[in-house]
Amino acid sequence: MRAVFVAVFLMVILAVANSQNEGYRQDPGWRAPTEAAARPNPLAKRPDAAAGGAKLFKRNCVECHGENGTGLANKHSANLRLDVVQKQSDGTLFWKITNGNTDRGMPSFSRLPELQRWQLVLYLRNLNSADIPSKAKAK
Ligand code: HEC
Repeated sequence: MRAVFVAVFLMVILAVANSQNEGYRQDPGWRAPTEAAARPNPLAKRPDAAAGGAKLFKRNCVECHGENGTGLANKHSANLRLDVVQKQSDGTLFWKITNGNTDRGMPSFSRLPELQRWQLVLYLRNLNSADIPSKAKAK
């Protein structure tokens, strides 16, 4: 009985520890070519397209980046609300989603139609205006 209690306790601790990847360090070698980084988001004037982006995010990204995009420590996935991520251009985020960084666990999503990838970029921008956990905001 006591062992069960301890096991449940540990599971709760682990779940909390994994719910946000505070320690995410960006791979300095994963850089979009200048031309790709300069591409503007064709949906920039279509904020309504972010809703579709939210659906795509749930379907394709939540398993690694978590419901609110803060990343999961056990997947080493990026906390997408951090400044190091958000300060990058739309083109850079699009390029990263398209090509992935498979050595470090981020798959390529070139199979999604281009406009869906831009919708995802639009949605990523919205993560920051939503309720940001205070720790992620501080960085
Ligand atoms: C199988 C797990 C997995 C899935 C699924 C996944 N990612 Fe990632 N993602 C990662 C990991 C791990 C990294 C960090 C890679 C690294 O360390 O360079 C990452 C990094 C990123 C980055 C770059 C962060 C930075 O530092 O610039 C973006 C943007 C991103 N993911 C968006 C997405 C989107 C959008 C989706 C869904 C379409 C998605 N990811 C699905 C694991 C995943």
